[in-house]
Amino acid sequence: MIKVGNVEIKGDVALSPMAGISDSPYRRITRRYGSAFSYTEFVSTEQILLGNRKSIDMFRFQEMERPISFQIFGSDLNTVVEAAKRIAPLKPDIIDLNMGCSVAKVSHHGSGAGLLRNLPLAGQMIEGIRKSVSVPVTAKIRLGWDEKNLNYKESVHILQESGVSAISVHGRTKSMAYTGKADWNSIGDIKSFAKVPIFGNGDVASFEEAKDKIKKYEVDLVLIGRKAIGNPWIFSERDKSSASFAEIKKVVIEHLLAMLDFYPNTDDYGLILFRKHFAKYVEGTNFPKDLKNQMLQTESLNMFLQLFSNYEETETNAKLETIELNDILNCETYLVDV
Ligand SMILES: Cc1cc2nc3c(=O)[nH]c(=O)nc-3n(C[C@H](O)[C@H](O)[C@H](O)COP(=O)(O)O)c2cc1C
Repeated sequence: MIKVGNVEIKGDVALSPMAGISDSPYRRITRRYGSAFSYTEFVSTEQILLGNRKSIDMFRFQEMERPISFQIFGSDLNTVVEAAKRIAPLKPDIIDLNMGCSVAKVSHHGSGAGLLRNLPLAGQMIEGIRKSVSVPVTAKIRLGWDEKNLNYKESVHILQESGVSAISVHGRTKSMAYTGKADWNSIGDIKSFAKVPIFGNGDVASFEEAKDKIKKYEVDLVLIGRKAIGNPWIFSERDKSSASFAEIKKVVIEHLLAMLDFYPNTDDYGLILFRKHFAKYVEGTNFPKDLKNQMLQTESLNMFLQLFSNYEETETNAKLETIELNDILNCETYLVDV
């Protein structure tokens, strides 16, 4: 068990925060499959203070998702601290400061990974939030801005001095974005001197690999991002490849319905948001490509569901055909024998 301040986390593999992915519907599914805690998508502190409904709605969650960490980003100290105060009544267990987003429109304005270039400000943000809310404050960082500015040691020291309760580390620099390979040796280096729990992250492709990373680099927990899309099985000891299509189908329908419920809208907005999940759910299965493309293009929920259930019929038909063929074979064999 890991303790982030006074918050207990049971388990050591969890879903990484992902904008457009780690919303309440998917967090619930991954928690059921074994993800250790919940991390929201990152939310703009400016938008929180503007009272933007869509942004604040990203913090909706269900009790079963606890412990839940609300992730925020921003470049202005006062805005970040005030936004943290504003969301505290929604009762998160942890508030996390994003210091890793590499997207230019975030990092080039001083938020996200931009904070890696202004560590004193990041420290003030952690301290400011900590003094304004009663929950533990954490941060998610990268190793540095670029190869020439690997300042993770300084980042960790400043964040710790500012009272951070845990640090998640994506083992890349900002300039790498998602290219190259995550540097787990540096993550291990951080763990060797850090005084707070360290959550390692980057390129983990299976549950076993997560466990290996914990063993080898002694991190307290591993976060899995991209490989967890359409694959909640990654948080359990069962590989997705062992799941029957019927099981995948059940999760797909459950996930879609939860999204439709979470994003109520007359024009099937939830379905459109679900597309990226769907493409990943059927990845690695025999699901026909043309049918997948058709389903990814339709804006009609009825059509989507109809195409999906037709596939089930086709599958059943395929099984029936096999049985009938076998019967004929047996029959013929029998006749020949006679
Ligand atoms: C679609 C997408 C959205 C992401 N959004 C966030 C985010 O909101 N907050 C954050 O801290 N990291 C975000 N990340 C980064 C991931 O949490 C993670 O650090 C990164 O993908 C590396 O882990 P992986 O190799 O397991 O994917 C995002 C990544 C992806 C692919």
